[in-house]
Amino acid sequence: MGAQVRRRDDGALELRVGGVFVMDDVETGSERLLARAVLDAGARDVLVGGLGLGFTLAELLADPDLTRATVVELEPDLVAWMRDGTVPGAELLADPRCVVEVDDVRRAVTSRPARDLDAICLDVDNGPDFLVHETNAAVYGTDFVTTCADRLRDDGVLAVWSMADSPPLRSTLSAAFADVAVTEHPVRLQGRQESYWVFAARGPRRA
Ligand SMILES: C[S@@+](CC[C@H](N)C(=O)[O-])C[C@H]1O[C@@H](n2cnc3c(N)ncnc32)[C@H](O)[C@@H]1O
Repeated sequence: MGAQVRRRDDGALELRVGGVFVMDDVETGSERLLARAVLDAGARDVLVGGLGLGFTLAELLADPDLTRATVVELEPDLVAWMRDGTVPGAELLADPRCVVEVDDVRRAVTSRPARDLDAICLDVDNGPDFLVHETNAAVYGTDFVTTCADRLRDDGVLAVWSMADSPPLRSTLSAAFADVAVTEHPVRLQGRQESYWVFAARGPRRA
């Protein structure tokens, strides 16, 4: 689809994919909260999709107990721009604990062996009801959520970012995990009070 990053007149850095606004660097608390949801559960080996502007990855790598952060990003240009300094965050990708895969997160997770990871953080789209990529609908569906559960160790965590609450996502996660916690994160957007949401599903149910 093609990523574009630009510095706006207000000084903010903005990421668009295929011309659609994805995020900026003004309000990044919920991206960091996504990482905290798995770090606070004790995760040390985490896969995160996607890279975006790197705030979830930065929060993960800021934890000295983290051993590995595998970041999976669909857009090769975004990775290249972060590596060459066009986008801030080169130090994140150069961290020896960081592994970068340019791929679709569904393929990257599916290719893992069972019980391979402590946690998976998913922030590849705006949530199940506001998709930038139609194909990402499957990220929030039963088949992929069940695959994530299988690739997590016992007590592992799947954390999912969404721009809205989603009862169907809650029930999909509850079918695959023993415990699901949903956190509402208030944000102020262009003068309006809104909320972003982080779903943290813990304890994969084994078939
Ligand atoms: C909202 S941004 C991620 C924000 C990130 N959490 C941060 O802290 O900056 C979404 C990213 O996921 C990428 N993406 C979209 N679909 C993907 C997929 N199926 N697999 C991997 N990356 C994907 C996009 O290119 C974009 O960089």
